[in-house]
Amino acid sequence: MREKIVAGNWKMNKNRTEAKALVSELLKEFKHKPAPGVTVVVAPPMPFTGEVVDQTAGTSVQVGAQNCHQSESGAYTGEVAAEMLKSIGVQYVILGHSERRTYYGETDAFVAAKIDRALEHDLVPIYCCGELLEERKAGRHFEVIEAQLKAALYHLHPTEMAKVVIAYEPVWAIGTGETATPEQAQEVHAFIRQKIADQYGRELAEGCAILYGGSCKPSNAQSLFLQPDVDGGLIGGASLKAADFAAIAHSF
Ligand code: PGA
Repeated sequence: MREKIVAGNWKMNKNRTEAKALVSELLKEFKHKPAPGVTVVVAPPMPFTGEVVDQTAGTSVQVGAQNCHQSESGAYTGEVAAEMLKSIGVQYVILGHSERRTYYGETDAFVAAKIDRALEHDLVPIYCCGELLEERKAGRHFEVIEAQLKAALYHLHPTEMAKVVIAYEPVWAIGTGETATPEQAQEVHAFIRQKIADQYGRELAEGCAILYGGSCKPSNAQSLFLQPDVDGGLIGGASLKAADFAAIAHSF
């Protein structure tokens, strides 16, 4: 059976005290009501990552980072290397998020190199792909997603690809309150799985966790997760409230 994952992307939210409180609340939620068979990941802002690793040690909650640099080390002011993340106990890293593509000009080539660094240091990349509203309206979403998959993933060896988690995040649904319908999500997830199967074979594709992201919340998570090719969610806004995030993790 494929891994089910619910990952919280806190983005640039919460101060240190609030971050600690959110993790404590989350741990309480999962202690009272565990989510068996679901991998729960939180990706706090970079300064709190180490503390969150310590706070969640020995619990069922895993820690991710929201980004890493594509180089091993060096003169890159303000950046964080995959090796640094690994050295403090981080296990996942979100790469290729549309906000980083839009605001920081991250290209597919950049993202491909980041995925390589993450894998070299045994971090699980959560690779985000998804179309803009104009691309969806023009009926170009499959073409756009295929190009994103090709540019960032197809160079990977099958043993590397087997470790990658994919997140389909239609850009028009991120932070907008507008969610893809379960049918729209399923259609794209099945397409992504087919593309991975074409490239790497059906067995690998069947094992690949493909998450949905974009205004996923307790009220719509279940209908999304019921879709056969939706293996969980990458959650932004709703991951900032422990009860909502826990409810989403219990929506399978
Ligand atoms: P959202 O963000 O849940 O707030 O739409 C999702 C994401 O950007 O990962």
